Amino acid sequence: MSHTEYQTQAAALLETLSWRYAVKKFDAEKKLSEEQLQLLLEVLRLTPSSYGLQAWKFVVVENSDLRRELIKHSWNQDQVADASHLLVLCRKSSLNGEDVEQFVQEIAETRGVSTEELAGYENMMKGAVEGRTKDERAVWMEKQLYIALGNLMTACASLGIDSCPMEGFDAGAYDELLSLEEKGLNAVLVVPVGYRAEDDAYAPLAKVRKPLDELIVRI
Ligand SMILES: Cc1cc2nc3c(=O)[nH]c(=O)nc-3n(C[C@H](O)[C@H](O)[C@H](O)COP(=O)(O)O)c2cc1C
Repeated sequence: MSHTEYQTQAAALLETLSWRYAVKKFDAEKKLSEEQLQLLLEVLRLTPSSYGLQAWKFVVVENSDLRRELIKHSWNQDQVADASHLLVLCRKSSLNGEDVEQFVQEIAETRGVSTEELAGYENMMKGAVEGRTKDERAVWMEKQLYIALGNLMTACASLGIDSCPMEGFDAGAYDELLSLEEKGLNAVLVVPVGYRAEDDAYAPLAKVRKPLDELIVRI
């Protein structure tokens, strides 16, 4: 890549990251195509996770009645109903040695190696899982979902798709209303995606970010 090409790409990247903002009001009439949705789901699937374990699932809430119902469990934030699509990033309710064994099986099949060859890696992963308490495993899984969130928001922005990262919701109510517990899942993050409303008052606001010299420590 020439330096000029680099500069063009760098400017485009910063433009994309500045263009996105946490949308407060979505245009309820503007929908993503199924193709766009599939691409966003692929972005979630490609998100890296610790050891590659992927202790998560991504729920697309398609039922509009349910989405309306979720507003009151989301600090009355309408985005969950008005956005084109509602994604709920979920962790597994439990993570244990069996999940590791299943994953090892998947590595063996995908890469054409024997599970015996992966025994060392398997034991290391089992140690990482079983060495944590149930609560620690939950926190570990949740931290990784924030990587999926970051990936998703950036990918959305690069495609001109709006999103809003949301922690402002009652996870217990989501688990119940969406029957997540019986699917072995717990809601961690909510991400409405779609298109900003023309009159979203937040769209024109300048980004508030600390200056680099306050944020960066070079040692
Ligand atoms: C983890 C996380 C949770 C957030 N939860 C909410 C939320 O529930 N509702 C909302 O409107 N914005 C939410 N935000 C948006 C932030 O307020 C916003 O990203 C921040 O103010 C920076 O502004 P910008 O994203 O518009 O650049 C959340 C952001 C993050 C990263």
